[in-house]
Amino acid sequence: MPVSESQQMPDVDLGSLEFWGRPAEERDHYFAWLRREAPISRHQPPEDIMGLPDQGRMSYWAIVRYDDVRRISRDPDSFCSGQGTQFADAPPEFLEASMSFLAMDAPRHTKLRGLVSSAFTPRQVARIDEGIRVNARRIVEDAAASGGGDFVELIAKRLPLVTISDMIGVPEADRERVVAAADLLITTSDPEVFGDRQPIEVLGEALWTLTEFATELAAHREQNPGDDLMTELVHAEIDGDRLTHAEIAAFFVLLSVAGNDTTRHTTSHAMRALSLNPDQRALLLQDLDGRLPSAVEEFVRWASPVMTFRRTTTREVELHDERLAAGEKVVLFYHSANRDDRAFEDPWRFDLTRDPNRHLGFGGGGPHYCLGASLARTQLRSIFGELLRVMPDIEAHEPELLRSAFIHGVKRMECTFRPRA
Ligand code: HEM
Repeated sequence: MPVSESQQMPDVDLGSLEFWGRPAEERDHYFAWLRREAPISRHQPPEDIMGLPDQGRMSYWAIVRYDDVRRISRDPDSFCSGQGTQFADAPPEFLEASMSFLAMDAPRHTKLRGLVSSAFTPRQVARIDEGIRVNARRIVEDAAASGGGDFVELIAKRLPLVTISDMIGVPEADRERVVAAADLLITTSDPEVFGDRQPIEVLGEALWTLTEFATELAAHREQNPGDDLMTELVHAEIDGDRLTHAEIAAFFVLLSVAGNDTTRHTTSHAMRALSLNPDQRALLLQDLDGRLPSAVEEFVRWASPVMTFRRTTTREVELHDERLAAGEKVVLFYHSANRDDRAFEDPWRFDLTRDPNRHLGFGGGGPHYCLGASLARTQLRSIFGELLRVMPDIEAHEPELLRSAFIHGVKRMECTFRPRA
């Protein structure tokens, strides 16, 4: 009998990084058990690789069902973001320098998000749709002659990098450097990334690179305005005050991280799923333009590239007969919500025609719902539209997964296809 069907609690430590290095299917045996038997459960603090003092680390409640993730996301008065949003603990100064409005509550959150939100509305994204498509075509054309290689480098990472850099106004020459630092920031839990150094040292260096770069770019844009988000930020005012350099830098870090890794990893997971499900690929190829919009929803549900965010209770709350005191840490497991069979029929079936498909890949709704959802959807439609038109035979092989409790990431994944001139 699979673990997921047994009555006994599987012997798993949810906070151990070893657990988060396992494939999603394997991890979900445990989450399936939790969804059925213990929709809310209390756990010890996650494994600490940052060398934090013990008193700064708290146990947490795991929220694994679809309805609960949705409900908590939409109740910011009881479950706030201002006391931290990450599952794993990190030093407060790192959070302050990198999370920006993601880790704020109203009214500050509303005001800061409002400064950039107009650039991300579906209507505004539709205006840059053609540019995104042209970039996607170029990326696919550049890769076409090679016949294969690492899919992440050749395809998956390219479009998000160009798109978000264009929007923020990062000059061409600095893009790879910025993305490499943004990557480091969320991958320091992987031993390959920190190597023989201390994770906290790697994290600090990456954050310093991004902060210094953002501050220089902001100073440049103050003198030389352009048509980009950085120019808007340096001239924006909230309640009559300009943003400080530290606030602008944190904004920059949030957008660089959120705008890059998520869409990249969705692209890689979706490519692998298309390779493992030739019937779904054939279906998509029959009517690429017509089926891509619904396929993209399944790509995001399937990949669930953001696996966790955290909230803190602001008052006493009751949930599934458990009484949570004010100030308790609550972790939302989006990937588990996206495999909840109360919300999705046969959730482990990769089904590009799934309808309805109200997945929680972009969050459960509420004030922090993903700002970049339209942008991500547009990019995914463009890259798969171009990729499958030019190389419908592309095959992705076994991915090398990132060890992280935050991002469901693919580090490398070989792909092969017939080379085109
Ligand atoms: C497939 C791609 C993406 C996925 C799965 C994703 C997922 C998420 C999730 C789960 C959240 C938290 C929602 C919550 O707490 O309720 C979030 C927030 C956010 N995302 Fe995305 N994201 C993606 C792409 C993007 C892109 C392209 C951008 C562009 C900059 C972006 C910018 C943001 C920002 C700024 C926030 C914070 C919003 C706030 O706190 O108000 N995301 N995203």
